[in-house]
Amino acid sequence: MMKRCLMTMVAVMTLTMGWGQVVTPQACEQSIVMPKETGRYLWLPIEEKAPEGKVQVIVSGMLQMEQNVRMAREQVDYYVALDLQPYQGKGELRVCVQNVPTGSVCYKKLAQNDDADFALIDEKFRPLYHHTPKRGWMNDPNGMFYKDGVWNLYYQYNPYGSMWGNMHWGHSTSTDLIHWKDEGVALAPDVWGTMFSGSCVVRTQSAQSGQRTQSIQDGDVVAMYTASRPTPFGGDVQAQCIAFSNDGGRTFTKYEGNPVLTAEDKDFRDPRPFWNEDIKAWNLILAVGQEMRIYSSSDLKEWKDESRFGLGYGNHDGVWECPDLFKIDNKWVLICNINPGGPFGGSATQYFVGQFDGHKFTCESKPEVTKWMDYGKDHYATVSFYNAPDNRRTVLAWMSNWQYANQVPTMQFRSANSIPRDLGLFTYNGETYVSVVPSKEMLAVRGAKVKQPTEACEIVIDVKKQTEIVLSNAKGEQVTMTYDATKQTFTMDRTKSGDVTFSADFPCTTEAPTYGTIKQLRLFIDRCSIEAFDAEGKMAMTNLVFPSEPYNTIKVKGGKATIYQIEK
Ligand code: FRU
Repeated sequence: MMKRCLMTMVAVMTLTMGWGQVVTPQACEQSIVMPKETGRYLWLPIEEKAPEGKVQVIVSGMLQMEQNVRMAREQVDYYVALDLQPYQGKGELRVCVQNVPTGSVCYKKLAQNDDADFALIDEKFRPLYHHTPKRGWMNDPNGMFYKDGVWNLYYQYNPYGSMWGNMHWGHSTSTDLIHWKDEGVALAPDVWGTMFSGSCVVRTQSAQSGQRTQSIQDGDVVAMYTASRPTPFGGDVQAQCIAFSNDGGRTFTKYEGNPVLTAEDKDFRDPRPFWNEDIKAWNLILAVGQEMRIYSSSDLKEWKDESRFGLGYGNHDGVWECPDLFKIDNKWVLICNINPGGPFGGSATQYFVGQFDGHKFTCESKPEVTKWMDYGKDHYATVSFYNAPDNRRTVLAWMSNWQYANQVPTMQFRSANSIPRDLGLFTYNGETYVSVVPSKEMLAVRGAKVKQPTEACEIVIDVKKQTEIVLSNAKGEQVTMTYDATKQTFTMDRTKSGDVTFSADFPCTTEAPTYGTIKQLRLFIDRCSIEAFDAEGKMAMTNLVFPSEPYNTIKVKGGKATIYQIEK
């Protein structure tokens, strides 16, 4: 590799750098790397604790993109890929690194080749049957939809490091909700900002409404997302944008009339559009501060402000984010992820049950009633797949918590999604709740019965009035779970589960109501997570654990366990 490192200290030239503008040296350290002509990936060496520098791609003097990257100064923790393919053969290609001292180790350790698996670390906490990004950071699931036998999952993604930043939409596909294929980046940052959370809709026969006038594509999948960018005056501006795909969601073309919805509110994001057959129009639910706004549209571009929901209802100890709104049987469920404010601190998913007439959501519970979808600490940003078959309401959550998501002890990737779950309704003491059960696809990976727990297994436990379950390993690390039929609670104690030191917010015991008695528990263990469900769906609890070796012993008092290997 030919590499030229320059240290340029130039007087400030007042040219704001923007997309496609001429690059002017700024008054800061700047190193220019000249990649070879062949080799698709330029591998950037990362040091997790290093401050962020800027990496820019420049073709014939024009800035193509820039990202914040923790380029290694003293040691290389892992590598991330800068995909040069879109820029190769288009002119003189340069990669400019800013704010990373010239003596830093990253310049010596840069590599370039075609090997997508270059320096991939085999991490002991990478789940075996949960969706994870191959490299980099992941938070919320985005834009999930089902079409022509394929489940599409997009996600909040930083391809350039394992901590939050540089938000893109990553994309994975699956035909069974378990085996996921990495489809790369679907949406990358642009002039409107980085790509925050959003959703996709599929134009079906009935949802043809709206003149298909967009000059781009007459696409059948439309993504709606938030573009977020810092303002010169501090803070961020968030605006809603759309993009079209006519290849089933593999590639998107952004609408040239973006953004389609703007406001002055600070937290204005995470659009969830959906076709509402009742009013034969599109609806949109959007999180704004601590309320949800509801809109309607005939074309996904012009939105009419219909109503607001939330003031005085449920939990308000944090910002409302990532909404969803859908019908199950004859009721409507409004999902409201909230951070912080969760029952055990940090992020969690609350929901409201009621009616929606296409204009206004009316909650059927008293304002002070708060309902949580999952009583663990690591279940956030839950949203559903659009257009799922057989009238299913299938959801995925992000299995982490903003309190410590950036610190969990994985390295080259961070973090995972929950297993797929299907939602329904149940009634207890006159209140209607959302039921949560593992999707039926989880039965397909149930393998042979085994005697002891393994790093990837499902444990089915027939419970009695009082049941205590202790999972442990030879290091004395353990997780204790209890079911108490008298108190009607299920608890999980992870205070001694392994590595709990990376955050004071991590060690804890979580407790869930079981709404009456339960008969059977299903526990899903996958290296660094435990997801517990009442088999009937009245209780769900998702918690991360980081044991130094897998739990291989189970002791059950007051119950009987059957253990199945999970064979992916
Ligand atoms: C939720 C969230 C969203 C936002 C995204 C940014 O976890 O804060 O509200 O769109 O993450 O990554």
